[in-house]
Amino acid sequence: MDSKEIQLVVVGAGPGGYAAAFYAADQGKRVILVEKDPQLGGVCLNRGCIPSKALLHATELIHEAEISAQRGISFGEPRIELDKLRDWKKGILTKLSQGIAFLAQKRGVEVITGRGYFEDSHTLRVETSAGQQFIKFEQALIATGSSSFKPRSLDLGNPRIMTSRQALDVEEIPDELLVIGGGYIGMELGFVYSGLGSQVTVIEALDSILAGADADLAKPVAENAKKRFKEIRTGAKVASMATADSRIKVVSKLADGTQLEELYDRVLIAVGRRPNSENLGIENTKAEINDQGFIEVDSRQRTADPNIYAIGDVVGGAMLAHKAHKEGRVAVENILGEDAEFQDAAIPAVVFTDPEVAWCGLTEAEAKEQGRKVEISKFPWAASGRSLTYDRTDGLTKLIIEPETERILGVGMVGHGAGELIAEAALAIEMGATAFDLAETVHPHPTLSETIMEAAEAYYGSATHVLGKGRKK
Ligand code: NAI
Repeated sequence: MDSKEIQLVVVGAGPGGYAAAFYAADQGKRVILVEKDPQLGGVCLNRGCIPSKALLHATELIHEAEISAQRGISFGEPRIELDKLRDWKKGILTKLSQGIAFLAQKRGVEVITGRGYFEDSHTLRVETSAGQQFIKFEQALIATGSSSFKPRSLDLGNPRIMTSRQALDVEEIPDELLVIGGGYIGMELGFVYSGLGSQVTVIEALDSILAGADADLAKPVAENAKKRFKEIRTGAKVASMATADSRIKVVSKLADGTQLEELYDRVLIAVGRRPNSENLGIENTKAEINDQGFIEVDSRQRTADPNIYAIGDVVGGAMLAHKAHKEGRVAVENILGEDAEFQDAAIPAVVFTDPEVAWCGLTEAEAKEQGRKVEISKFPWAASGRSLTYDRTDGLTKLIIEPETERILGVGMVGHGAGELIAEAALAIEMGATAFDLAETVHPHPTLSETIMEAAEAYYGSATHVLGKGRKK
């Protein structure tokens, strides 16, 4: 039996956990990072953000090549070699994961591959291939993330019924793919598979896809998806599924109450994720888990156990890597004796659909829900020269402004590359910028970033490329 003593043990090497471990080591803490997967980086790197973005990039190229004929440049039919596509994707993941292992080693962070289990408030047992290790820690940070949720009624044990994990492996290109859930994962992977040539049908229980985004931002995505997918059914649910030879028989209930029975080659379940808080021995510590399975923390990322902190998907809130990263920094700063708090006012969200949707701060829908008086200023991308050169005028930038102070409370965008543009909004909100600040900041021409400046100019009635009346500066 192996036993060690350490100042900080971090459980889970996703973007929250490994970043926190590195930060703590940089600040002089002795750190052990425990991860059950031999490849570091968590879901985001290995089975989520990174592989999905690789596939989205690759499949966008197919679509771009197709529509390029209108511009006088024609390519032949694409020949897709799935082995090569998978190898290319795997190469990216391996490189990134090895990079993390290298950085850990250089920082003196010891990585232990195995599953962690809390024996008590000071001891973590790790099950490794070489046997058990007991780590006596001063402080622990839980960053165990989340897993895809598969409702029991839909879980037949048939490998053709996939979660994002299997879908990202792209074992084959199904002729007919059913996506259950029109959220982040369903829509992003819907675009991947439709790009590869599948006929994609999406079934979403709510009245619209991407329900977390403002309706005017989700609309261009829905319109494009309607062209690229076979069908999007909102207000619909899957009643039952059954294996039918090599296909899946799906009975769904549509918005008007009718039932439909269809056959699909594969089904992707993307109806949300659940926290990985089970089988961790949390009950042996003073930390608490709420009814939804999230570990409860305060704004300093402290659990009810004074020695244990938790961050990322396992504590709830937005299940986003960059939110976990920030929470990790807050936790480490508190571990170091500083007084840091997590505030989620400016956590950007990006859905990497075609077009991309990105928002940050207060949304228009949230303002309405809260009964908060705001002013909205919009700039349509159809008036942007840069968006015309991309052949992508289906975009919109909008600012959500506090009338009394003219402060930017939120920014929403939809359009090609919106995910890269939203960082400016995050900075503006973080710095307490006003619409005037954005209007006065010179943005480079011709870029899509000008849409932020022009939306601010439009607020004052003086945007160069749109007509309209606004308030006077
Ligand atoms: P989600 O919460 O984004 O979407 C799930 C959707 O499924 C919802 O619209 C919900 O109404 C619908 N739904 C639930 N039960 C259903 C049913 N029985 N039939 C039909 N529809 C049903 O969850 P998703 O897409 O699984 O992603 C999980 C989380 O992962 C996201 O919330 C996000 O935080 C994170 N993520 C972030 C990405 C990014 O930052 N670009 C990409 C992928 C995931």
